[in-house]
Amino acid sequence: MPRYHLTTFGCQMNAHDSERMRGLLGSLGYGEAPDRDEADLIVFNTCTIRGSADERFTGNLGEARRIKRERPDVVVAVGGCWAQAQKESVFRDYPFVDIAFGPGEVNRLGEMLARERLQGIGAFTFDGRFSGDLPALRERPHQAWVQISVGCNCACAYCIVPAVRGRERSRPAAAILDDVRRQAADGVVEVTLLGQNVNAYGRDLPAAGRPSFAGLLRTVAEVPGIKRVRYTSPHPKDIRADVIAAHRDVPEVCEHIHLPAQSGSSRVLKAMRRTYDRGRYLDLVGRIREAVPGIALTTDLIVGFPGETDADFADTLSLVREVGYDGAYTFVYSPRPGTEAGDHMPDDVPAAVKSDRIAALIEVVHATARQRIARHVGAVVPVLVEGPSRTDSRRMAGRSDHNVTVNFLGPAEPGTVVPVRIDASTSTTLGGTVAEVAVPLGAV
Ligand code: 5AD
Ligand code: SF4
Repeated sequence: MPRYHLTTFGCQMNAHDSERMRGLLGSLGYGEAPDRDEADLIVFNTCTIRGSADERFTGNLGEARRIKRERPDVVVAVGGCWAQAQKESVFRDYPFVDIAFGPGEVNRLGEMLARERLQGIGAFTFDGRFSGDLPALRERPHQAWVQISVGCNCACAYCIVPAVRGRERSRPAAAILDDVRRQAADGVVEVTLLGQNVNAYGRDLPAAGRPSFAGLLRTVAEVPGIKRVRYTSPHPKDIRADVIAAHRDVPEVCEHIHLPAQSGSSRVLKAMRRTYDRGRYLDLVGRIREAVPGIALTTDLIVGFPGETDADFADTLSLVREVGYDGAYTFVYSPRPGTEAGDHMPDDVPAAVKSDRIAALIEVVHATARQRIARHVGAVVPVLVEGPSRTDSRRMAGRSDHNVTVNFLGPAEPGTVVPVRIDASTSTTLGGTVAEVAVPLGAV
């Protein structure tokens, strides 16, 4: 049996595509090799969001070059965003790469494998199918990612995604629901709807009968067996009242929104072309909190965007404190060729300033998250059980409605929701013990 080794970089869209690649390669008769040295097919699913993603990947690619030198029959396939961004030069610069394909083109991998055997060349095409329509080999039996759209119509000045993933295309609602029903029948209880800008869902579909994003949330929540619905990522400009109402009224829709702010400075937000300013963002946060007071909010923040001054950065720090995020992903700005900022704005914040700012930001994010997460101590929270804890073999691990990892003592079946009495917290996790009393999902 031929064997493959797959390495995934980047976001959940890529993790989702990789699950489909595993499903596809399995159906083509490939087994999985524990490491690259034993594989007949080496696959990389790549990211190019920041320069550091490129560097991490090209380091790995060096190992593929060595293996190919030792075993010339090995096939090297590179998929995803880096491959798409480098499509003009990948075969020239990396002649040992046999196959290259863009993000979402999982269904083409098998075809290219067959073609590679015949002609020894890769190709770039996009046939418009959604990788979500392909069967997956899921990493977690009770949780699934469900792709609802591909591409993005935003024009954020720093972001390479529109260039590599193209215009936004929504997957028809019927296909999404079929997918969710199939997953639920297969034991899935939690789904995460995936897209680059999920709440713009449907705008490219024919007006008659198309669901809004909020409508989609509600229909997915009604699928028998589905206990939790999450989504990532929304754009703050597209969060409507009906989406907030779904968080308030639909018990399955989790009490968590990942709401990428990127900066706390209106001046920087304008240069980034985010289309909202600090005031409008805070106004949105206010409306969300008014409807769902206990909701967890997380975010993405960039430091060192071109022209960012000390005062702009201070605005980002104060935004974190003012919103009181439950967590945040923090990034140092990285100029990407092919983006507005990368091509037309000088990367003028010195590296030393960037690293001071990211360190200061991380400190404030941790302090804020630690305070926020501590509010659960003393409460009984419903936890979706995932399996044994990775850090402590006597404990089980799962996730709260608010998307916090909970390590706990007590009997619990993976895939069930159990009430856990919380007695400890860090800036990212909770600890506790299974409680006697059952609480309804969404009650805490
Ligand atoms: N530099 C730094 N961070 C970036 N992100 C996107 N593009 C860049 C870039 N060029 C961050 C944003 C986005 C997250 C996925 O990555 O915060 O929300
Ligand atoms: Fe990386 Fe963006 Fe592509 Fe995801 S969509 S893999 S974050 S470049």
